[in-house]
Amino acid sequence: MSSVAVIHASQLVTLAGPQRPRVGTEMSELAIIRDGGMLIRDGKIDIVSSSEEVAKNAGDAEVVDAGGRVILPGFVDAHTHLVFAGNRLDDFERRARGETYEQIARAGGGIWSTVEKTRAASGEELFTQAQNHAKWFLRCGTTTVEAKSGYGLTVEGELKILRVMRRLNEEAPLEIVPTFLGAHAVPRKLNTDKYIDLVIDEMLPRVASEKLAEFCDVFCEHGYFDVEQSRRILTAARKLGLGLRIHVDQLSDSGGAQLAGELKATTADHLEKTDEQGIAAMKSAGVQPVLLPGSVYALGSTAYPRAREMIDAGLAVVLATDFNPGSSPTPSMPMILSLACTQMKMSPAEAITASTINAAYSLNRGGKLGSLERAKIANFSIFDCEDYRELAYWFGIPQTHSVYVRGERVV
Ligand code: NIG
Ligand code: FE
Repeated sequence: MSSVAVIHASQLVTLAGPQRPRVGTEMSELAIIRDGGMLIRDGKIDIVSSSEEVAKNAGDAEVVDAGGRVILPGFVDAHTHLVFAGNRLDDFERRARGETYEQIARAGGGIWSTVEKTRAASGEELFTQAQNHAKWFLRCGTTTVEAKSGYGLTVEGELKILRVMRRLNEEAPLEIVPTFLGAHAVPRKLNTDKYIDLVIDEMLPRVASEKLAEFCDVFCEHGYFDVEQSRRILTAARKLGLGLRIHVDQLSDSGGAQLAGELKATTADHLEKTDEQGIAAMKSAGVQPVLLPGSVYALGSTAYPRAREMIDAGLAVVLATDFNPGSSPTPSMPMILSLACTQMKMSPAEAITASTINAAYSLNRGGKLGSLERAKIANFSIFDCEDYRELAYWFGIPQTHSVYVRGERVV
C-alpha cells in the first residue's frame, strides 16, 4: 500500500459538509482546518485532521510538507470544449477592432472555422493538441473536466473527437467527463431539420452504443437551435440514457432556462440573459446553473449572469471556464474565481464551492470528488498563498505550487 501524509497546510480547505450540492449560505461554508493535513492510502483520503494528528498516524508514509500553503480539492471544471484544432486568433483581433461574435460568425469565423480545422486534423493531431490543453488545466489546479464534442458536425467527425477524449482520459492524469454536442451549429449548406435528423437517427445511437458520452448538450440560441429543436434532440438523448446539459440564454433570452426546467436537465449553462422566470424554473426542477464568466469577459461584454439572485433563490450554482478557442480561451479556474468575485459579486468562498463540490455533483461525481473527506479520491492542489481568498484576489499570476491526482504529484 502506498501512503502519503500531507501536513502543515495553513488552510486545508476541505468543503466537508452535507452529501449533496451546497445552496444558499452553505456555499460560504468551506470547513477549513488550520494547520491541517491528510493521510492518503492508495489514492484515497483516509484521515483529514490537524497536522499533529496526521503525523501521529503517518507510519512509514511519504511525508509532504505543504509549508504553510493553502490546500484545496482539485478544481472540477464542468463546462469545457477541450478538443479542437488550431485557434481563433483572427476572430480575437476582429473583436478587438469592434466586431461582434455574431458578425464574425457570419463573416466566416466563429464555430464554423474551428469545425473546418478540426475536420481536417487527424485523431493523432487532435490528441496531441488536447494533451497540451490537459497540461494547462492541471497547471491551474484543475483535476477533472467535462469536455464537449461539437467541432465535427458529421458522424465520423463527432466520433473522432469523442474517441480523442476517451484516449486522453486513459493516458493523461486529467479526468475527462465526455459530453456529446453534435448540435453545436448547423453545417454549411445543410437544412437544420435534416441535420437534426442526422443527430438523432445516426449520431446519438452511435454515441450511446459505444458509450462515448455521459451527457448530451445543445447550443440553444437564435441562429443555432431553437427551443423546439433543442427539445427534440434532448428528449431523444434522454431516451438513450444520457444526462442533459444545455447552452442557454447566452446571447439572447429564448426561454432556454425554462426548457432546462421542463426537461429536468442536470445543468443549464451560460444564462447571461436569463430572467426571474428562468431562475424560478431552474429552482423548481432542481437544475444546476453553470455560470461561465470567462466567455462574457473574453467577448468584451458586461452582461454577466445574475449569480447573486441565483444563490439567493437557493440554486446550487456552478462556475466553469467554458474553455474554447472562440468565446473563452482560458483553462484557468483562478481567473474564473476572480471574475466571479469582481463581476458577479460572489464571495471567494461561494466561488470555491461552485468550482469544486457543486461542480462535482453536476457531473454525478459528488460522492467521490469535489471535497477533501474520508474515502474520497485524493485529488488536490497546493497553492503558494496562506489564505484561500488570495486565489481570487491576485489575478494574472499563477499561484499553483503543486497538484496531486489520486495521491500522486502530477505538477
Ligand atoms: O460556450 N456557445 C457555444 N459554444 C461556445 C463557443 C464555441 C466557439 O465559439 O467555438 C461557448 O461559448
Ligand atoms: Fe460552451
